[in-house]
Amino acid sequence: MKKLEKLKKERNAIILAHNYQRPEIQDVADFVGDSLALAMKAQQTDADVIVFCGVDFMAESAKILNPDKIVLHPDNKAKCPMAAMIDAESVIKLKEKYDYDVVSYINTTADVKAVSDICCTSSNAVKVVENMPNGVIFTPDENLGKYVMRFVKDKNMVLWPGFCPTHQGITKKDILKLKEKHPSAQILAHPECTEDVIDIADKVASTEGMVKYAKQTDAKEFIVATEKELCYRMKKEMPEKEFYPIANAICPTMKKITLEKVIKSLENMKPEILLDDEVIEKAKKPLQRMLDIGRGD
Ligand code: 13P
Ligand code: SF4
Repeated sequence: MKKLEKLKKERNAIILAHNYQRPEIQDVADFVGDSLALAMKAQQTDADVIVFCGVDFMAESAKILNPDKIVLHPDNKAKCPMAAMIDAESVIKLKEKYDYDVVSYINTTADVKAVSDICCTSSNAVKVVENMPNGVIFTPDENLGKYVMRFVKDKNMVLWPGFCPTHQGITKKDILKLKEKHPSAQILAHPECTEDVIDIADKVASTEGMVKYAKQTDAKEFIVATEKELCYRMKKEMPEKEFYPIANAICPTMKKITLEKVIKSLENMKPEILLDDEVIEKAKKPLQRMLDIGRGD
């Protein structure tokens, strides 16, 4: 990977990668994390160029927080299907109807963030909603919204019916089959999973929260109910423990980023994330408000 190292130095670039990225991408990244940790890292870096290995909304968030830096997204077709399930116009209509604050999951486009009051990630969704003074329009992940409602009982919440196809496809049956084979394994689940999966989980957390929990607990085996590549990072950081992924839990759009495309993006300095100045200014407020609240798990 001498070529990549040389390019990184020449461009003063940093590679940020999400926990669902291919193993070879995780291996060359300067930092691997969940969407909240990646947004924080993007804000702190003094690199001139951020190569963002993840999906569109993550790379856009890095740009919103760093409008003066060049943010490269090695494949601009790597788009999160859940983020495409809500648009700014629908958010504005809901706001007119309910007069509640809009809490938008970070898995949204910059346009949707620009009309939201605050963002959240899977790490701090409960904390963010708890902080809101009135009712909340929660968009776009209905499963995450229902998970938040388990903890926040004193607020009206209007949920948008969006979902993540990868997490929606993880079934209780898949998990129980694995549990039969590995009875001592604890069940870790992402809050994008359906309610019946959440009900049988020992721990529900963001991808980073799962890593943290697995490190802290005495348990030695884990069934990991989220995108399967998180198990690569977990095994790398905890070789003495066992992690069982859900075989079909793959996010195809995350897998669009390849090592070849990462190198090419630094060679050609594209595809670059370019956003309208006004959208950046408006979208920065809800993102910053969320960052000020910090981690919840
Ligand atoms: P995390 O922030 O927990 O990594 O989740 C991001 C995501 O897209 C989950 O599908
Ligand atoms: Fe979007 Fe789901 Fe992929 Fe996460 S796993 S990026 S929510 S499609």
